[in-house]
Amino acid sequence: HEIYFNALGGVVPELPMAFAELEQRASEALAPSVWSYVAGGAGDEFTQRENVTAFEQWGLVPRMFVGASKRDLSVDLFGLKLDSPLLMCPVGVIGLCGQDGHGDLATARAAARTGVPMVASTLSADPMEDVAKEFGDTPGFFQLYTPTDRDLAESLVSRAEAAGFKGIVVTMDTWVTGWRPRDLSTGNFPQLRGHCLSNYTSDPVFRSRLPQGRADDTQAVVMQFASVFGNPLTWDDLPWLRSLTSLPLIVKGLCHPEDVRRAKDGGVDGVYCSNHGGRQANGGLAAIDALPDVVDAADGLPVLFDSGVRSGADVVKALALGATAVGIGRPYAYGLALGGVDGIVHVLRSLLAETDLIMAVDGYPTLADLTPQALRRRR
Ligand code: FNR
Repeated sequence: HEIYFNALGGVVPELPMAFAELEQRASEALAPSVWSYVAGGAGDEFTQRENVTAFEQWGLVPRMFVGASKRDLSVDLFGLKLDSPLLMCPVGVIGLCGQDGHGDLATARAAARTGVPMVASTLSADPMEDVAKEFGDTPGFFQLYTPTDRDLAESLVSRAEAAGFKGIVVTMDTWVTGWRPRDLSTGNFPQLRGHCLSNYTSDPVFRSRLPQGRADDTQAVVMQFASVFGNPLTWDDLPWLRSLTSLPLIVKGLCHPEDVRRAKDGGVDGVYCSNHGGRQANGGLAAIDALPDVVDAADGLPVLFDSGVRSGADVVKALALGATAVGIGRPYAYGLALGGVDGIVHVLRSLLAETDLIMAVDGYPTLADLTPQALRRRR
């Protein structure tokens, strides 16, 4: 209401309402190296573009005489009562998108203000304990890049539990970084410059592996980080992964229904359909086109979804295709770049307001009303 009635009253918002303008202005606000890292993707970015345009292949069919004057966007996710099904995806260099270099803390503060949970990346500019302190009453999740050093993995997870995170999201699609021409042509991988490694430098196991425990020696930290970063896990490792925590365990990057069935058999609590925003492998399906098969195979297990969500209409479509919760990555990074905590809050509130209005106008007042029958595939 506030956004809408301000506009009706002629108040011009400081931050863009349309995603295209948000993106354009963020490209001007961010340092070129950060911009290309955040905005870029794998190969010629075909899959990244498809993630966005594939939503246009689905159309919502409005229902009338529903009387959708009150909407309920609340959702139960792993026993957590959330006001909406929106999530902020883990974004490894979010720290650098904030003007003060503390974008992780800003994101956590935006989570506290909006009730939209943050999935905090392993690659964080501030240690996870400091990030978690900013969540307020909003639950947060910790995203794990599983290192090859199992003691380190166990340490990171037990720290996340102690810090009060409500679930562990293990990212499966990034044990090696994808082919990213924008970054390869500039030599621009922020983590290899020592940025966003605070969860490592603050970790007792990681520190014990450094020569003389010197966490202030950037060169030594980066070399140690690079040597343990990516673990190409196999199904044989799933029981170990499961044993790491009694918190909800969610595996991110699952797009094949057979993988979903095996993960479910292995005791995970949720699957997360995503292609990493098209950053990892080019030539893949749009994530939204993988979602129906994932939901089918999940057979009642919660399904988180991201990649390409840019509008409330996209949120509604992903929910109708069976997602339990829907994540955004780049959009909130751009909000942060333009307006700090307020910028992220602006992006989240605008997305939620559009989602809510579409559910009103199209006559789908609750998430339970949003089923595949609400959609038609474009001819
Ligand atoms: C990411 N993503 C990501 N995922 C993850 O599991 N851990 C991470 O550290 C990161 N880091 C990261 C950095 C940047 C700059 C971006 C843009 C993305 C992927 C992220 O969680 C999510 O899957 C995508 O961002 C979703 O796609 P959109 O919304 O950006 O299109």
